[in-house]
Amino acid sequence: MQPRDVSTNPITVRPVEEERDATTIRKLVERSFGRDVEAQLVDDLRDCGMLVLERVAVVESGTIVGHIAYSRVTGAGAGHRLNITCLAPVCVEPKLQRHGIGAQMIRETIDDLQGMGEDLVLVLGDPNYYPRFGFDAEVAKKVRAPFAGPIFMALPLTQLGREGLPIEVSYATPFQKLG
Ligand SMILES: CC(C)(COP(=O)(O)OP(=O)(O)OC[C@H]1O[C@@H](n2cnc3c(N)ncnc32)[C@H](O)[C@@H]1OP(=O)(O)O)[C@@H](O)C(=O)NCCC(=O)NCCS
Repeated sequence: MQPRDVSTNPITVRPVEEERDATTIRKLVERSFGRDVEAQLVDDLRDCGMLVLERVAVVESGTIVGHIAYSRVTGAGAGHRLNITCLAPVCVEPKLQRHGIGAQMIRETIDDLQGMGEDLVLVLGDPNYYPRFGFDAEVAKKVRAPFAGPIFMALPLTQLGREGLPIEVSYATPFQKLG
């Protein structure tokens, strides 16, 4: 499939209005993953106040076609001063996948996190996809977490994020339900 032409089909990435968007987001996340685990994770993270950044991608008509969430990860020991988030989940309306919408959401939100003073972003995902945004499995080897291996990647956004490693981290409680 050819990349979509964003100049003729602009996508806007905007903040979430909880009351108005929550149900639409839930259905989109369920459709994209083909199950309700990730949608429940988003609701739980929102409910317990652990979401650091949440955005939706909308087409010109206003229809929501993508969603991305980052939640707080807590550093321990020497890394306790770092502001750490994890990207999870991210999804795009199934029929619009592989047209650059996911990439646009990820790039714009990484810029937002940088502006917010976040030091380090973690992700658990496809090692063929996330390195294009700067996520690096080698960096993540210095992050002691419940996850490891090539699918666990890290992106430092500040000098502290680069130099404050190794660290130990713990994820928000809703992740523990995922098993
Ligand atoms: C993963 C996802 C968010 C990417 O968004 P997208 O808009 O479809 O992707 P983009 O158009 O930005 O990027 C396309 C590239 O990503 C790759 N890609 C997309 N989804 C992929 C997947 N699930 N696995 C592997 N590679 C994938 C494509 O091969 C393509 O690579 P190329 O540029 O080298 O050809 C989207 O496909 C999706 O919602 N998938 C289902 C939910 C999911 O698995 N989310 C990620 C885990 S949290």
